[in-house]
Amino acid sequence: MGPLQIKELLQQTPDAQSVTLKGWVRTKRESKNAIFIAVNDGSTIHNIQAVAAPGQFSAELLLSVTTGSCLKITGQLVASQGSGQVVEVKIDDLFVYGTADPDSYPLQPKRHSLEFLREIAHLRPRTNTFSAILRIRHALAFAVHKYYNDRGFFYLHTPIITASDAEGAGEMFRVTTLDLDKLPRTDEGAINFKEDFFGREANLTVSGQLEGELGAMALSKIYTFGPTFRAENSNTTRHLAEFWMIEPEMAFFELEDNMDLAEDFIKTVISYALENCKDDLAFLENRLAEEDKNKPQNERSIPLLEKLNFVVENAFERLTYTEAIDILLKSKPHKEKKFQYPVGWGIDLSSEHERYLVEKHFKKPVILTNYPREIKSFYMKLDDDGKTVRAMDVLFPGIGEIIGGSQREDNYEKLLERVHEVGIDPETIWWYLETRKFGTAPHSGFGLGFERLVLFVTGMGNIRDVIPFPRYPKSAEF
Ligand code: 4AD
Ligand code: MG
Repeated sequence: MGPLQIKELLQQTPDAQSVTLKGWVRTKRESKNAIFIAVNDGSTIHNIQAVAAPGQFSAELLLSVTTGSCLKITGQLVASQGSGQVVEVKIDDLFVYGTADPDSYPLQPKRHSLEFLREIAHLRPRTNTFSAILRIRHALAFAVHKYYNDRGFFYLHTPIITASDAEGAGEMFRVTTLDLDKLPRTDEGAINFKEDFFGREANLTVSGQLEGELGAMALSKIYTFGPTFRAENSNTTRHLAEFWMIEPEMAFFELEDNMDLAEDFIKTVISYALENCKDDLAFLENRLAEEDKNKPQNERSIPLLEKLNFVVENAFERLTYTEAIDILLKSKPHKEKKFQYPVGWGIDLSSEHERYLVEKHFKKPVILTNYPREIKSFYMKLDDDGKTVRAMDVLFPGIGEIIGGSQREDNYEKLLERVHEVGIDPETIWWYLETRKFGTAPHSGFGLGFERLVLFVTGMGNIRDVIPFPRYPKSAEF
């Protein structure tokens, strides 16, 4: 169906067979003896070279073949005379689907800054860098589904619109059909949400976990993979207002099993990308090496493939929060007062602390467990000491937290106590609480931020560059 992709054409043995190719012009170059047009259709990082003879086409037609224009070419697939490609297309017929005026088409064949490309997110998939990222993103998404399918997990579709705050952090986008200019009021003067679409307050989900747990209490092993929304005002290179999260949830898994799964999962999907995205990863590795040339030696990064292979081949370091605090208290930056935020048992680790542990101290991915209950969500299982919970965060070099998860509190009384403690109205999650009344069981799960994974695998520096159309404060263009 449809024309052959350029990726497929490039793999054929040239025998002057007739071929049709369709795609967008990357460059056009004219020499005395020939006109060379490099065409790309996004199926691969590589262009195919199409060659015409001087005088074969009218000057007018050739003038409309510019960077960004879209062509249909029929011709013969032949062995290439030039270096740099094995095959090329000797053009018989050339048709221009759409021109791209060089005076206004913003993507010219030169290096554009990532900031500039973010302003033209409708066109940036046509660059080598972004097409490579999008293909890798696709491969990782496929690998995620394959991973869970291969291991007997069921893909559960959890709701996007909810009336509960799964993380209890309150950073939610409201969903309403009320007329903001004429808000209905109760007798007390509050907004009357009974008149809203759902007859109550509703929001975009921050996590599918609570519903995921309901699934695990019936199907044993489920996972979600969907968009999640957070209205946190974080203008960082690691936060998006709309991001995709993968949340496996497993009955009969304790914290240890949960850690084993998280580690194996990340390693397996990265291996899949290493195996199936070789050309794109090689391109991105080179791109990083080019960027690094301008930096002093000690600021240069490890080559991308070396970094990915290292993660796949080495065990993650596992330690408790309490042990991590001890390491931080004994660290040089703490003693020399170089940390911006103070260190002490009970603090929520800030990214400088996490980065010290991962990048300076252990120099590998780290899984931190058993955090103080006060800084973690209400649903995490209380440890026997009553002070810590069975939480686990997976921290990655250059990324920080890539996974957050825990064993869940499966005891009804203890869970209810926590719900009250953090000020959640039990009425809004009565259905969640009932799972602890009817056939409760030990269970665990975690959430992997998909964009943080793509960020790590592509070696990019900003999360806004690994999702096609990023959403962040003051930005919802495209
Ligand atoms: O640690 P978080 O908040 O955990 C949860 O939402 C749990 N319900 C997960 C679970 O146990 N099922 O988020 C999980 C992960 C983080 O580790 C991070 O990778 C990513 O989601 N994440 C974000 N990614 C991009 N932008 C944001 N604003 C993110 N917030 C969290
Ligand atoms: Mg977290």
